[in-house]
Amino acid sequence: MKKHFFSGIQPSGRLHIGNYLGAIKQWIELQDEYEPVFGIVDYHAITAPYEPSEMSARILDAAAGYLAAGLDPDKSIIMIQSRVSEHTELAWILNCQTSMGRLSRIPTFKEKVRQNPGEVGMGLFDYPVLMAADILLYKSHIVPVGEDQVPHLEFTREIARKFNTTFGDTFPEPAEVLSTGAKVMGLDGENKMSKSLDNCIYLDDSDKDIQKKIATAKTDPARKRRDDSGNPDICNIYSYHKIFSTPEELEYCAEGCRSAGIGCVECKKILVAHLEETIAPLREKRNELLAKPDAITEILLAGSDRAQKIARETMAEVKSRIGLTFG
Ligand code: TRP
Repeated sequence: MKKHFFSGIQPSGRLHIGNYLGAIKQWIELQDEYEPVFGIVDYHAITAPYEPSEMSARILDAAAGYLAAGLDPDKSIIMIQSRVSEHTELAWILNCQTSMGRLSRIPTFKEKVRQNPGEVGMGLFDYPVLMAADILLYKSHIVPVGEDQVPHLEFTREIARKFNTTFGDTFPEPAEVLSTGAKVMGLDGENKMSKSLDNCIYLDDSDKDIQKKIATAKTDPARKRRDDSGNPDICNIYSYHKIFSTPEELEYCAEGCRSAGIGCVECKKILVAHLEETIAPLREKRNELLAKPDAITEILLAGSDRAQKIARETMAEVKSRIGLTFG
C-alpha cells in the first residue's frame, strides 16, 4: 500500500504560472510514488475576512484548476477539509500540547500582527496547529510546500515530537519538500508573481490577455530604444524564456538583445507563442471541467470520504493514546 502525505491549498481562486511551476507540477510528479491527500483548506480560508456566498464557487474553482493541471483523482485523494471533521478534532488535541508563546513566535503570525494589529483572531493565531493536524492526521513523512511554509513545518515536527514523547510514538516527523521549480517573478520584474500584486499570468488567461500582459511587461530597463543593446541577464522577459523556450531560441534572443539585432517586440513574440501553447490546454481543460460542476463535486465528496476513513483510524489511535477511551 502506498504511503499518504497531505498538502493543502486555500480556495482562493485563480492559479498563475508561479503556482504551476512552483508547486503543482511537483505534486503531480509525487502522485505515482504516494497516494497524496490534497486538501482544499476551507477552515484555513475562514481565518481571514471572506464572503460566505462565494465560498462554494471558490472551492469548485480551485478544484477545477488543480484537476486541469493534472491532479488525478484516481491517484490522489482530493478532499475538502471541512468535510472531514477529524481535522478540527485533532487540532483541538494538538492545541492542548501547544504553548501560546511558541505560536506567537511563528513568523507568518508576527507578520500578520504587524500588518493588522487590531484584526488578529484566534483562528489566525491557531492556523499552524490546524495545519499540523492536517499533516499529522495522514501520518505524512513529507509535505511538498513553498518556502514560505517552512516555519509551519518546523512547528509541525515539534508538535509531533512533543506528542510522541508524552503519549508514545504515534506520528512521523514530516520533512518539507521544496519545489525545485524556478521562483517565477511577476510581470513587474520586481516581485514574486502574486495575485495580490496583480502581476500574474493566470492559467486561464486568454491568448489576448497573454499578448497584452507580455506587451507591457518590463524588460531590461536600460534598453529604451530599439537600437540600444540590452542585457538579457537582467531582463525579466528573458527569465521567462529560460523556462519556456528552446535552447536555440534562448541563444537567438540573448545574442539578438546584446547586439540590438532584434528588438523587445520580436523577443516577446517568441515568448508569447510558448505561453499560449502551455496555457491553452490548461485553460480548455479547466473550462470543460467547470461546465460540469456536478462531476467536480462528486470527485470532492468521494475524496473527502476516502480521506475520512484514514483520518478515523488515526483519531482512534490518538484518542486511545491520550486516554479518551471511556466505555
Ligand atoms: N498554509 C498553506 C498555504 O497557505 C495551506 C495549508 C494548510 C497546507 N494546511 C496545509 C499546506 C497542510 C501543506 C500542508 O499555502
